[in-house]
Amino acid sequence: MKIEVLRIGQRLVRDDRVTTHVALVSRAFGASKIFMCDANPDIKGTISKVNRMWGSDFEVEIIENWKEVIRLKKKDSFKIVHLTMYGESINTAQPDLRKEDKILIVVGAEKVPREVYDVADYNVAVGNQPHSEISALAILLDRLLRGQQLQKKYFNAEREIIPTKKGKRVMNKTTD
Ligand SMILES: C[S@@+](CC[C@H](N)C(=O)[O-])C[C@H]1O[C@@H](n2cnc3c(N)ncnc32)[C@H](O)[C@@H]1O
Repeated sequence: MKIEVLRIGQRLVRDDRVTTHVALVSRAFGASKIFMCDANPDIKGTISKVNRMWGSDFEVEIIENWKEVIRLKKKDSFKIVHLTMYGESINTAQPDLRKEDKILIVVGAEKVPREVYDVADYNVAVGNQPHSEISALAILLDRLLRGQQLQKKYFNAEREIIPTKKGKRVMNKTTD
């Protein structure tokens, strides 16, 4: 399944840390690209350093016109999955979502325009309580990919963690 993420809007007080975490979760939990509106362009450098060190070719694109991204993705047969506390439960949507081939997940930072609810193929709630785009995204990606994304190895990584019950083991693939 090909999964991309679109983050709409950023709070007036810049929430760079949340923006970074939305991108990191997208990358680590199996999406291949994120589109971001109004984001600090430094995010691209931050993610490319993570890609270099830990692998993957996850992409970040800073955009101005999110409507155009949705339009193009729909044309390219992506299903639009909008995460919102007002949507249908992830528990009931999950079987259909898992059958899709290409998904664009839309998350908000603040109030999301009504248009997004209308254009979405699925409006999906991770519970009906307000929480955060970071948690909603992580849970949706995990439900879609059933935990398989956590086993993924990257051949272009400089470093790889050797999981241990205690301490830290890291293999430097450029020297070891
Ligand atoms: C801080 S919340 C904004 C909530 C805001 N009150 C609204 O009207 O959408 C930021 C984003 O987190 C996601 N989110 C928060 N709670 C959620 C939930 N229970 N289920 C799904 N997504 C949620 C949505 O994508 C939302 O746009």
